[in-house]
Amino acid sequence: MDIQRLICDRPRTIEVSGIRRVFELGAKLKDPINLSIGQPDFAVPEPMKRVAIEAIEQGRNGYSLTQGIPELRERVKRELTNDLGWSFGSKADPVALITSGTSGALLLAFLCLMGPGEEIIIPDPYFVMYPHLASLCGGKAVRCDTYPDFRMTAARVEPLITERTKAVLCNSPGNPTGVVATREECRDLLDLCRRKGVLLISDEIYDGFTFEDGLTDVAVGDTGVGKCPSPARFAGASEDVLVVRGFGKTYGVTGWRMGYVAGPGELITEMAKIQQYTFVCAPSMAQWGCLAALDCDISGHVRDYEARRDMVVSMLGCVTNLSVPAGAFYAFPEVPAGLGCSATELCDRAIERNVLTIPGGIFSERDTHFRLSFATRPDKLEQGLSVLAELLSG
Ligand SMILES: Cc1ncc(COP(=O)(O)O)c(C=O)c1O
Repeated sequence: MDIQRLICDRPRTIEVSGIRRVFELGAKLKDPINLSIGQPDFAVPEPMKRVAIEAIEQGRNGYSLTQGIPELRERVKRELTNDLGWSFGSKADPVALITSGTSGALLLAFLCLMGPGEEIIIPDPYFVMYPHLASLCGGKAVRCDTYPDFRMTAARVEPLITERTKAVLCNSPGNPTGVVATREECRDLLDLCRRKGVLLISDEIYDGFTFEDGLTDVAVGDTGVGKCPSPARFAGASEDVLVVRGFGKTYGVTGWRMGYVAGPGELITEMAKIQQYTFVCAPSMAQWGCLAALDCDISGHVRDYEARRDMVVSMLGCVTNLSVPAGAFYAFPEVPAGLGCSATELCDRAIERNVLTIPGGIFSERDTHFRLSFATRPDKLEQGLSVLAELLSG
């Protein structure tokens, strides 16, 4: 049978060769210094493991409600009330939905918002999934060029808004840059979206990894502990902002496929309908495990990552341009123009020296920077950075 003839155009719009190439080249190395990985390297908190294992043993292995187990939804709502000041309960209030990873939440949001020819504005550089989600929906991701400081400001976004725009997507702390938006940038973006009548989607998957210099806001119901700024923390934001958060990165359980989304009830109700006929529900035992998550303290790991961030800045900041990451576990250094090579070429040279990083062209229209992840053992990180510093110095 001619299977090629049967496959429609949809998957053909997706080009995976860039990342696959890095992985294929990396697979040939014996014991590479791997600075390409997008997940934390610490152990999963014991209480989460215990509760998930108990859930399996106690027979909690069937479907859950589409929206998620009530216990976790309640816990998530309490978190959002304390952190963002959102109130849940009455008919007009926002709604929270437990999803299969943050990706699940994003897919449902795109499916509910974007029809053929419609647009969503995303930052460039961006998380690799965003443009593909838009094209899978028949829509278009309009890239907002945020070089050289990687700040998605209202001034940069406004000229891109057209009558086809349905949403603006911001991501702070950002992948691949680690840049954290300021409170003022969040407020201006929200004001712009309100003025133009488009939804603001805030992908906050890395909010748990915000370093001292990024923690410039305070939670609404808290005692003044520093927080990562969020557009969802402004008065009335639950009517205009869709907040997407995850458990995978924060607690080292990326394979559990757990996330949540909260925002305008009318939209979440539509998203839940699509979840019912696609994912059905998030994995049951992982939902129980994540019930223990929000009470686990990962601040020790975050301080650890902050020290590794400092190492990256001190070893690479003097040989190239580097926006200091205030969150996540990525840095996005520039390949100095004087080297006369693209980021792909530089990453190939790094592979020859046993170091794996990802060229910026995979996350961007430009191939002038590269992403390194510092979620790796400090001794390995230091070795990798020495190689990179040498390559960047020419
Ligand atoms: C910015 C961003 N959003 C969403 C995701 C998807 O995360 P999840 O594993 O929860 O689906 C990632 C994963 O790397 C990411 O970097």
